[in-house]
Amino acid sequence: MSESQQDGQDLGNRRYEPPEEFAKNANVNDPSVYDKANQDYEAFWAERARELHWFKEWDQTLKWDPPNVEWFVGGKTNVSYNCLDYQVEQGKGDKTALLWEGDEPGDTRTFTYSELLTEVQKFANVLKGLGVRKGDPVSIYLPMIPEVAIAMLACARIGAPHSVVFSAFSPGSLRDRVNDCEAKVLVTANQAPRGGRVSKLKENADKALKDTPSVENVIVVRRLDEDAPMTEGRDRWWDDVMGEADAGCPAEEVDSEDILYILYSSGSTGKPKGIVHTTGGYLTHVKATTKWVLDLKDDDVYWCTADVGWVTGHSYLVYGPLANGGTTVMFEGVPSYPENDRWWDIIERHKVNILYTAPTAIRAFMKSGTEALEKHDLSSLRLLGSVGEPINPRAWVWYHENVGGGRCPIVDTWWQTETGAILISPLPGITTTKPGSATFPLPGIFAAIYDEEGNEVEGEGQGNLVITRPWPGMLRTLYKDPERYEQTYFSRYGKEVYFVGDGARRDAEGYYTITGRVDDVMNVSGHRLSTMEIESALVSHPAVAEAAVIGRHDEDKGQVPFAYVILEGNREKTDDLMKELRNHVGEKIGPIAKPQQVIAVDELPKTRSGKIMRRVLRGIAEGKEDLGDTSTLADPSVVDTLQEQAAAQG
Ligand code: WTA
Repeated sequence: MSESQQDGQDLGNRRYEPPEEFAKNANVNDPSVYDKANQDYEAFWAERARELHWFKEWDQTLKWDPPNVEWFVGGKTNVSYNCLDYQVEQGKGDKTALLWEGDEPGDTRTFTYSELLTEVQKFANVLKGLGVRKGDPVSIYLPMIPEVAIAMLACARIGAPHSVVFSAFSPGSLRDRVNDCEAKVLVTANQAPRGGRVSKLKENADKALKDTPSVENVIVVRRLDEDAPMTEGRDRWWDDVMGEADAGCPAEEVDSEDILYILYSSGSTGKPKGIVHTTGGYLTHVKATTKWVLDLKDDDVYWCTADVGWVTGHSYLVYGPLANGGTTVMFEGVPSYPENDRWWDIIERHKVNILYTAPTAIRAFMKSGTEALEKHDLSSLRLLGSVGEPINPRAWVWYHENVGGGRCPIVDTWWQTETGAILISPLPGITTTKPGSATFPLPGIFAAIYDEEGNEVEGEGQGNLVITRPWPGMLRTLYKDPERYEQTYFSRYGKEVYFVGDGARRDAEGYYTITGRVDDVMNVSGHRLSTMEIESALVSHPAVAEAAVIGRHDEDKGQVPFAYVILEGNREKTDDLMKELRNHVGEKIGPIAKPQQVIAVDELPKTRSGKIMRRVLRGIAEGKEDLGDTSTLADPSVVDTLQEQAAAQG
């Protein structure tokens, strides 16, 4: 066992009790909540739902017709109303709802709840004026600026599902996402400054718009005072349309199960999955977990660093904090600009109390040392959160000691775009944490571990993580593709059991540790590596169109990463390029993740449902003759080609 792993394991055996003072003041500190939720979980969630504003209460809490679920059936509510009007009614009109910090230090804008409500109503009227009606999807391709939250809330206000597309996505990704939901309106910006550099967002959008027949109107935020190519009759500036818009737009009374948003999540297949979230259950789950897990309180300044183009930005930058009447920080820039102390500067200046971020960021800071942190007063922080990938014990402890000054509990929150909100996490006022473990399923959440055959693994053990009862924030379907929904999540272990796609380990005390995607995990010299992470590093290289990584058996190291890439356009397969790609992964993730070999191929072996058959790739990498059953491949002949190409480059 390597020294660093030993180190990591020792750290993973540490225990951290909730600090007494923290526990005393925590939003939830009575451990009986777990039992109560176990006894009657529908009643538990109904109680959470009652903390929302409803125009009409529901008739039925849960309708579970596997794999289809409805929560708070018959209830009428509105997410925008909950996040804005309801807060103003409770006297929070003058409270800061959104605190925005731009790319340049000190470039800030703030919106009180009343101000945000006004902007949202105006933009809702703009959308209505463009013919957007309840149920009509709107695509939003905006960077981290207040207008993105305004546009989302405006859609919610009129019952138009939004589809936010990450602003760093390419024109092609935007095009596919717009076309899949057939949006009539696209909201974008002329430019997007980030880290001192400017991307010409509207030009990207225009490339996509060449091939998006559904789009009739484009609204363009003038983020920087520059012009942009505008198409007469289709494109309008945000300021112009807002200037003409009426400030009154009552929130539509939407059904609990009406779609709030579609968020595309790219699977291992080429076609992104349009994950559908609806209204009442989603907001219930998101509001409750922001309060319970992130412990958001009235006087907190809360900062979730996720981009709004991802689910974390939806649930915990916009909807969760606003539904609780909190102050949410939105940061446009990057941690290293203009200096590498930017985050700590923001925390100090805005007196941030809660920081919710990702292990990747923590590990990057860890690498550059504590000097930048030490320049700033971070004593306002009282709680730290982590999300998005397994956090290794060393990063956890570093985060705890150096960012949290040893006094802030850490909530390692496990969830997915599909789950809408947090499912497995400590409750910071109750749970004794262990570094590297997301600890326990939250009250009202029923997780289990199954083996390959579908038997439940009891007690200490390892296997596939599943969720055995529906939860309010659960995805309802994949947009216009219910078959793929059932196939992806409810075929592995039947219609009643949600197949997560992550592996998990449970220790003797019931603590869960998420080990990564089940088909994408390898173990190199005792280090668990996620193939997905390496794949995304590879595709971040401009020469790579698609990548598939597997763990190849290795005598010394257990496994080593082995990569197959499809090159962009007419890039040539040269040895130099392969070497560059290996180094690129090394730089992106770390030397340990460097593929032992990268080979360029024309095609990857995919099943008819588009899933890469890794077993075949593993067999080829290990030089096996017999690759097992390949009849479910969309095109079984790719195997021969692959074998030839591998041999030629081996
Ligand atoms: C991984 C992000 C370990 C996991 C909210 C999951 C985690 C995928 C954690 C979803 C965590 C997320 N510990 N792994 N705390 N949180 N993951 O859809 O593999 O972008 O399935 O949602 O991230 O990623 P997604």
